[in-house]
Amino acid sequence: MDKKVYVGLSADLVHPGHLNVIKVAQGLGTVIVGLLTDKAIASYKRLPYMSYEQRKIVVENIKGVDEVIPQDTLDYVPNLQKIKPDFVVHGDDWKTGIQKEVRQRVIDTLQEWGGKLVEPPYTANISSTKLNSALREVGTTPDIRRQRLRRLLDAKPIVRVLEAHNGLTGLIVENTSIIHNNSKKEFDCAWISSLTDSTAKGKPDIEIIDFSSRMDTIHHILEATTKPLIVDGDTGGLLEHFPYMVRTMERLGVSAVIIEDKIGLKRNSLFGTEVQQNQDSIENFSRKIITGKKAQVTTEFMIIARIESLILGKGLDDALKRAQAYIAAGADAIMIHSNKNTPDEILAFCQQYKNLDQKVPLVAVPSTYSQITEKELADAGVSMVIYANHLIRSAYPSMIKTAKTILLHERAAEAEQYCAPIKDILNLIPTEKEQ
Ligand code: SPV
Ligand code: MG
Repeated sequence: MDKKVYVGLSADLVHPGHLNVIKVAQGLGTVIVGLLTDKAIASYKRLPYMSYEQRKIVVENIKGVDEVIPQDTLDYVPNLQKIKPDFVVHGDDWKTGIQKEVRQRVIDTLQEWGGKLVEPPYTANISSTKLNSALREVGTTPDIRRQRLRRLLDAKPIVRVLEAHNGLTGLIVENTSIIHNNSKKEFDCAWISSLTDSTAKGKPDIEIIDFSSRMDTIHHILEATTKPLIVDGDTGGLLEHFPYMVRTMERLGVSAVIIEDKIGLKRNSLFGTEVQQNQDSIENFSRKIITGKKAQVTTEFMIIARIESLILGKGLDDALKRAQAYIAAGADAIMIHSNKNTPDEILAFCQQYKNLDQKVPLVAVPSTYSQITEKELADAGVSMVIYANHLIRSAYPSMIKTAKTILLHERAAEAEQYCAPIKDILNLIPTEKEQ
């Protein structure tokens, strides 16, 4: 009987190394490719450029591949148990690094039925990591970027978002990563906060920065990054103006706008009831959502409705009633905000939200209840966490310290310890031809 050969692949950027693995597999029997789903890949590294369906079309058409099935986890074991292949073929590069444990589990599982792991030598001079960074330098297009947020929401237990308010902070969201517990961690997306955009421009967060100026910031961030962007649209402005905002952002490749159900002079939510601020009626705000949804051209752009009931002391029932109404009006997600210093009211909301008949993804902004972890939020049913102001809040004290140190010593030498070396700054953003 023909032998069964299993090959696990991500196949986002297919290169000769992959083809070599398939060729070796073909020599051993019938080749079944376990194609990692977006979810499996996002569990340990960046979401692939191509969707599962696109990658499947590519792999199905590679000579030597007999069948393509989804592999839903980085772990091969569930598929191996189902298929019981005689061989697994994988390049020998996984003996070290992130996939080391995955490899060991493959060996242990194959042993149960006498299967064998075959490891052709890794093809030198070609690496997906290098190809990936080359691709990142080429950039992205509005269409590809816009749809990435929905893909992330489908693929990840919780989408991790960090604020950006200029090109430099956009680059920090884009490029900062760590390796922790054998997986690469990074931010999935940028939040263009009205608070930090206003603050960076020396203005209060009261919708005083006009849309052109907000757009200017958005342009700078779009140019410096490839990750999806979510724009803080404040109240969305006048109902009649909101469709124009939607169209402009959608055209540029922004993935989502979040609008809050306030009316009149908007004050920052973290003031809570310390300042006068008014909530819009359910009817008016629902109409704004409907108008925005009608205006958009693509199917993937998201309008996220932000509920301010907890901020304004209107209580949980009001928040839930509004969630229902905004979802019925077409909101693609709900952001529930709180300025309490414990997560209790947010968790109480999440608990009740689970019982609604019609649900969309939930977004939380733990600025004041920052002790909560991403896992706790995800377990409560939250699909997206926004770290809304942390880059500007961390930069500010550092800049003040430097300024005061120069004043004190009447020279800059003592402040050098607080500063990045000049060379680092010069090289931080390479010119086009050096890239
Ligand atoms: C922002 O970041 O501008 C927000 C979130 O809208 S908050 O500041 O908490 O209101
Ligand atoms: Mg804001």
